[in-house]
Amino acid sequence: MANDDLKALIRTIPNFPKPDIQFRDITTLLLSPTGVATAVERMVAATHSPVDLVAGIEARGFLFAAALAVPLNAGVLLIRKDGKLPGATIAEDYALEYGQDRIAIHADACAPGARVLLVDDLIATGGTARAAVRLLRKAGASVTQAQFLVDLPDLGGADALRAEDIQVDALVS
Ligand code: PRP
Ligand code: HPA
Repeated sequence: MANDDLKALIRTIPNFPKPDIQFRDITTLLLSPTGVATAVERMVAATHSPVDLVAGIEARGFLFAAALAVPLNAGVLLIRKDGKLPGATIAEDYALEYGQDRIAIHADACAPGARVLLVDDLIATGGTARAAVRLLRKAGASVTQAQFLVDLPDLGGADALRAEDIQVDALVS
């Protein structure tokens, strides 16, 4: 399957969740067995070095983190919206394309120096992913790569993340 075919499986919903937002909806890709298998295989193939943990960002990032962790022989680290994790947490605030939010991880989620691959379904402004990198680095992780199914390049998030010394890969733009 070509990356253009993957792109064709993603639909655009106008004016969601607010007027003038063109929402790229990956649920249609997820419904396709070939689409989901191709996306996961390509993300695994694009992983450049061994990883101890795959960190997924709530909610859609969890799907890809779990799927990548199995072939990469890694664990899964959950980056959750604040207030959802039961143990002691560290948190970071960030601005969204359409709002403000806060994400958290368990303070003891990774050993110092753990090699962590960051994964999410989509990067837009990069606010979420940059907050995730700040959190993971605060926890002592080594984060050198982030993978996304979709990049919205006009919003500049991938470039902003690259400026933080992260290799950024996305299957479709
Ligand atoms: C979406 C998406 C990314 C983030 C990208 O998640 O899954 O996590 O926004 O935007 P950014 O690059 O501008 O930060 P959302 O916050 O909508 O949460 P959800 O996955 O729980 O729906
Ligand atoms: N689709 C999905 N998630 C998003 C988007 C989008 O277009 N923009 C910011 N987060």
